[in-house]
Amino acid sequence: MEKLFLVSFLLSLSLPFLVSSSSHNVPAIFIFGDSIFDAGNNHFNKNCSAQADFPPYGSSFFHHPTGRFTNGRTVADFISQFLGIEFQKPFLEAQIAVANGSRKDFPSNGINFASAGSGVLQATNQDWGVTTIQVQLQQFQELVGKNQIDKAVIPKSLFFIESGSNDIFNYYLPYGTPSLNPDAYVQAMLAQVANVTEQLYKLGARRIALFSLGPVGCVPARALLPDAPTNQCFEKMNLMVQKYNKGLESLVTSIPVKYPGAVGVYGAVYDIVRRFQSVPARYGFSDVNNACCGDGTLGGLIQCGREGYKICQNPEKYLFWDYFHPTEHTYKLISKALWAGKTSIIRPVNLSTLLNTP
Ligand SMILES: *[C@@H]1O[C@H](CO)[C@@H](O)[C@H](O)[C@H]1NC(C)=O
Ligand SMILES: *[C@@H]1O[C@H](CO)[C@@H](O)[C@H](O)[C@H]1NC(C)=O
Ligand SMILES: *[C@@H]1O[C@H](CO)[C@@H](O)[C@H](O)[C@H]1NC(C)=O
Ligand SMILES: *[C@@H]1O[C@H](CO)[C@@H](O)[C@H](O)[C@H]1NC(C)=O
Repeated sequence: MEKLFLVSFLLSLSLPFLVSSSSHNVPAIFIFGDSIFDAGNNHFNKNCSAQADFPPYGSSFFHHPTGRFTNGRTVADFISQFLGIEFQKPFLEAQIAVANGSRKDFPSNGINFASAGSGVLQATNQDWGVTTIQVQLQQFQELVGKNQIDKAVIPKSLFFIESGSNDIFNYYLPYGTPSLNPDAYVQAMLAQVANVTEQLYKLGARRIALFSLGPVGCVPARALLPDAPTNQCFEKMNLMVQKYNKGLESLVTSIPVKYPGAVGVYGAVYDIVRRFQSVPARYGFSDVNNACCGDGTLGGLIQCGREGYKICQNPEKYLFWDYFHPTEHTYKLISKALWAGKTSIIRPVNLSTLLNTP
């Protein structure tokens, strides 16, 4: 009896050590970008009009809205689950909690800085009160500067960057003619991402994953654009997306050359999603064109949850949840591909390999 007690006592003592040693390589994920990753920052920013903090957002997994722009988990959430760590809190939520005393410290499993509606260009959707990626970077920088993040954790942490869809979508809006041609616009975007990457490196980041844009020209919201076809994807926009993605991959390839000790990985989300569209049934999709939740042409004219919206029976069968964003099912498939995929999907190494690199 006493022996048994001793054994279970020792087990309960050693368990925390076991857990921390198996995950010590990757204690944290820091996330920057737009609505693909936003887990509630905009919700905690009362000044921001890009919101998904009302039903039926979140209805399939959390069973309440969280500010995520989908029916469940995002790619950052799935990768965290694969790693066995908790979901990252929105920076603004953590900041409020630390300020009001309900938390002592910022979380140790990373922080999510992403803000829906933001782009890599500072002007993108500024009138919505979004947090630009440059300000997201400043928020991280301040935490590092004030020692509110353990500096020893940074080099081992994963840095996720995904942004640019809003810049490219806005390029085709009927108002405000862009002053740059598509190539120059894409170069201006890439210059910003390069700068963000450099600043993160200077702050200690060593494992940096940059995710390509998906086929933005296929989102149901293209029905809002006067020049876009609705019976097929808007390939003119997709061409611009592919140019941006190509530049992004060159940037990733240059990371270990320009920044000694750093590893960059490029996730080809564009190719993953196009694959879903070409053989939908193989991935469990019955609809890869329409939004599950919304209204009007392609379900792309009204945001999910806004007055007059309709919702599909089975979101699991749809590629798109709302006018701009994938369903949780789509995110799950993308996450699995990024986690353990071949070099055609994520290169030079997949996320599970990256994490097992000492
Ligand atoms: C403090 O902030 C947290 C996070 O927003 C919130 O859940 C909590 O209710 C707040 N507590 C007080 C006492 O205001
Ligand atoms: C709120 O958003 C507006 C734009 O909608 C911006 O001009 C203003 O500076 C923002 N205020 C704060 C406190 O962030
Ligand atoms: C790069 O980013 C930093 C910090 O956000 C900023 O101060 C600097 O002006 C940027 N440089 C360029 C060339 O945009
Ligand atoms: C990707 O991940 C899987 C599972 O961790 C691994 O077995 C495989 O070798 C990796 N593939 C590549 C090409 O890195």
